[in-house]
Amino acid sequence: MKSKEKSCENTLKVSFESLSRNESLARSLASAFMTQLDPTVSELADMKCAVSEAVTNCTVHAYKNTVGTVYMTMKAYSDRSVRIEIRDKGCGIDNIEEAMQPLFTTDPDGERSGMGFTVMENFTDGVRVISRRGKGTKVTLTKKLSSLRSDT
Ligand SMILES: Nc1ncnc2c1ncn2[C@@H]1O[C@H](COP(=O)(O)OP(=O)(O)O)[C@@H](O)[C@H]1O
Ligand SMILES: [Mg+2]
Repeated sequence: MKSKEKSCENTLKVSFESLSRNESLARSLASAFMTQLDPTVSELADMKCAVSEAVTNCTVHAYKNTVGTVYMTMKAYSDRSVRIEIRDKGCGIDNIEEAMQPLFTTDPDGERSGMGFTVMENFTDGVRVISRRGKGTKVTLTKKLSSLRSDT
């Protein structure tokens, strides 16, 4: 019997250190992986932006004052959706609902805008956050790519 369920057609797993220079690396990795789905320029830009926010959070919040490992898993599905999971083993988030509110930040220096999760939500089709204090955080970003390209 033929299943209508979407199937995962490709997976890429990478890990890197939580250094700020690896934020652009993460964006490039996401971009390179998504190329196989023939995304539009704006779909690509949106996902890169969301990935950037999630990875930056690992660097500045999860592994604050230290350096840890960021794990990135990318999956491409038969229905032209892409899922990018960004995971850390850092400090974790106490109150996820509060953390995801626009303008909420725990940054005491006022350097952060508190808009990271809002950007992720606006530029993707789904953001899922799982976190445990002292154990780490997993952010899953999902985006469904259009089947008709408009910019070619
Ligand atoms: N990976 C993470 N580990 C620990 N805390 C996090 C992580 N990601 C986000 N947070 C918490 O959620 C808050 C909101 O994140 P965000 O919306 O990106 O805003 P900002 O990074 O500008 O503070 C952060 O201030 C931080 O307290
Ligand atoms: Mg942020």
